[in-house]
Amino acid sequence: MVCDVSEPSLPEALRQILFGEVLSGLPVFCLERWQSLHETSARVLLSDSGVHPLSIAELSDYGLSLDQLSRVELGYGWTKGSPKLRERISEIYGGSVGPENVLVTNGSAEANLLTVLGLVRSSDLVLVDVPNYMQIPGLLKWLGARVIFLRRNPPDWSFPIDDAISLMRQHKPKAMFVNDPNNPTGTYMTGRELEELSYEAEKTGTTLVFDEVYWGSELQEPRPSVLEIASSGQAVSVSGLSKVYGLPGLRVGWVAGSEKLISRLWSLKDYTTIAPSILSDHIASVMLERDNVKRLRERAKSIVRGNLEILEGAYSEAGDLFEVVWPSAGAYFLARIPWSDDTLMIAHELFREYGVLVNPGECFEIPGYLRVGLGQQPTQFRDSLRTLVNGLEGIREKTSW
Ligand SMILES: Cc1ncc(COP(=O)(O)O)c(C=O)c1O
Repeated sequence: MVCDVSEPSLPEALRQILFGEVLSGLPVFCLERWQSLHETSARVLLSDSGVHPLSIAELSDYGLSLDQLSRVELGYGWTKGSPKLRERISEIYGGSVGPENVLVTNGSAEANLLTVLGLVRSSDLVLVDVPNYMQIPGLLKWLGARVIFLRRNPPDWSFPIDDAISLMRQHKPKAMFVNDPNNPTGTYMTGRELEELSYEAEKTGTTLVFDEVYWGSELQEPRPSVLEIASSGQAVSVSGLSKVYGLPGLRVGWVAGSEKLISRLWSLKDYTTIAPSILSDHIASVMLERDNVKRLRERAKSIVRGNLEILEGAYSEAGDLFEVVWPSAGAYFLARIPWSDDTLMIAHELFREYGVLVNPGECFEIPGYLRVGLGQQPTQFRDSLRTLVNGLEGIREKTSW
């Protein structure tokens, strides 16, 4: 059923909206719809998966000249992204790709869309890492691809590398779509695992498509990009500035891959957004200077580490109200709710009664969990967490009789 996706109210109506279709065959993008409907009116915003955004004024401290910015002519600019920005992006990959391997997009969301449209045809067989952000599974369903899911399962939620390798050997899939570091589980692969995948992909002719928008937020061992391990003929990296770099409002993302693929996606982009905003291109070129990349990644990790400490304190007092899946990357954690599997109802009540916005596990096809943001400023996070705990206690009490 194709439904009106703009009218939320009662849980049942909401359920129909979130799990219906936007167009015939294209499922509603549950996570984005949930957030779009609620995020501007939430009092306590714990739904973001990136770190607290920087203001334009703060960017001066990273070398952005507001005077220069004010003199940028508001033309279309470079439809592929400016040479300077593409150079900066390619540098992040440690020399494994050049500017000719990069296409700048409007957020990593557009990068994912173009990549799927550019690579997959109806009835192609593909492997897909789940749970994930769920944009790609929705698009693949619409395109009529044959999908085999690779599930990250509790308790450790790690990527099922052995299954991935044996399925590659068995089916020689066209592509494997992976979201790593993973949203929502906060787990990530080791360099060794990336090598194993890359070795196998070479043999089976499978393109490894990695959404790496949380790359750089690893709290333990740093993780290389798939493009630092596999050749650009075999691998594609999607990433952007929205999460780790705290700049979602720029809407800057990118695809890095073979020149052939980039050229095709560039032509596809003529149909979507034509070009990135020239203002964003200018700002991103400054923010991706080498020292800034390091600094912004450190900023993200420091915010998340601080909030994890606050979470530890609150958790030790929360009894069996929720169980934390401790993340190793990203700016969010999963909270398992042991007393109910209906986390959509819980998320709905949290929003309605307490003004708290978190994401229901149902949007990731893992009911029984809530995804909670860890990217707020620590002082704000402490208060937000208190309201969340209070809300969960109230809802548990209400549902227990
Ligand atoms: C894995 C993943 N990819 C892509 C996106 C889209 O991000 P943006 O378009 O803001 O870069 C998100 C946003 O939550 C995400 O989690």
